[in-house]
Amino acid sequence: MKHNVEVMISEADVAARIAKLGEEITARYQGSDEVVMIGLLRGSCVFLADLCRQCQLPITLDFMTASSYGSGMHSTRDVRILKDLDDDIKGKDVVIVEDIIDTGYTLNKVREILSLREPKSLAICTLLDKPSRREVQVPVDWIGFAIPDEFVVGCGIDYAQKYRNLPFIGKVVPQE
Ligand code: PRP
Ligand code: MN
Ligand code: MG
Repeated sequence: MKHNVEVMISEADVAARIAKLGEEITARYQGSDEVVMIGLLRGSCVFLADLCRQCQLPITLDFMTASSYGSGMHSTRDVRILKDLDDDIKGKDVVIVEDIIDTGYTLNKVREILSLREPKSLAICTLLDKPSRREVQVPVDWIGFAIPDEFVVGCGIDYAQKYRNLPFIGKVVPQE
C-alpha cells in the first residue's frame, strides 16, 4: 500500500510524557530493592529503553515474546509465549512494558501467565492505548497516551516491521 506517515504525537511530547511516567513509577516503587521491567518484544523495546532511563530505581530488564495472532487470522485469539523470561520473578516488583494495547489479548494472556509466578507486585505500563478496540479487559496502571483507532507507527511500533525507529508517533495515511 502506498502511504505517507504524518506526525500524530511529536518527539518532544513523547519525551515529556515518558519523563512524567518515569517520575510516577519512581514514586510508586520507593524502597523496592528491585523493579523488573519486562519488555514484550519487539514493539516495546524503544519505549522500554526510554522509560527505564527516566526511573531513579534499581531496575533490571527482562524480555518476553508473545506470538502475534495476526489480523483476524485466528478466531481464537490464542496468544502463546515464543520466548520466555530469562529469570524468575517470584517475590519481585514487576512492571510489564508495552508499546500499545489494542484488543488486549496479548497483555491479558501475559499478565495471567506472569501472575501465576507469584511476583510481589505486577503492574502494566503502556505508551499507547486504543480503548475503542478493547475486546478483553486488562488492568493498566500507566498509559502514555490514549489514542483513537488510527494506524500508528514509531517509537517501537511497526507497519510490516518498518518505522519502529521513528522518534515520534506517526499516523499511516494511504496515498492515492
Ligand atoms: C503488537 C503490539 C502489542 C500487541 C497489541 O505487537 O506491539 O504487543 O500487538 O495488540 P493486542 O492488544 O490486540 O493484543 P505485534 O504482535 O504486532 O508484535 P511486535 O511487537 O513484534 O510488533
Ligand atoms: Mn508487540
Ligand atoms: Mg507489530
